[in-house]
Amino acid sequence: MSVKNLPYYVSGLVVKGFGRGSKDLGVPTANLEDKVVDALPSDFNTGVYYGWASIDRKVYKMVASIGWNPFYKNKKKTVEVHLLYKFENDFYGKQIKAIFLDYIRPEKNFTSKEELIKAINNDIATADQLLQQPNMNAYKDNKFLVE
Ligand SMILES: Cc1cc2nc3c(=O)[nH]c(=O)nc-3n(C[C@H](O)[C@H](O)[C@H](O)COP(=O)(O)O)c2cc1C
Repeated sequence: MSVKNLPYYVSGLVVKGFGRGSKDLGVPTANLEDKVVDALPSDFNTGVYYGWASIDRKVYKMVASIGWNPFYKNKKKTVEVHLLYKFENDFYGKQIKAIFLDYIRPEKNFTSKEELIKAINNDIATADQLLQQPNMNAYKDNKFLVE
């Protein structure tokens, strides 16, 4: 599948989602403000992406989910970023910058929450590994993330 618009650079404030990521799935996600969602090109594929993200100029590996979360049947499209790092606090109101480098898979529905959790953890492991490739790793020093 050919995925357009990559690499894709976004910058936006973290807003409150439904809070299911941390509570229900054990995978906290930072939901980005509507401005980011509304600015996505119309041909931007929904699904799971990976790349690098920064908060307060510190750079982390990330996976992102863009779409309607079919398992939860959301009414509005969201852009959610999960950073591969264990934080003590949440980031509501903070600015996140992210570079989406590549696509992992389309969003799917699942018959159980456990399957969704398994798929997300699989995405995290995939991202963790692929970001070590020299051409992907190089982006962590991109000045967009730290300026
Ligand atoms: C890497 C990753 C992959 C995801 N894949 C799916 C998916 O395939 N289907 C789906 O319904 N939701 C998917 N989600 C979204 C979760 O359902 C979502 O993060 C959860 O509902 C928490 O949303 P909330 O923060 O608004 O509560 C994914 C999330 C992440 C971080």
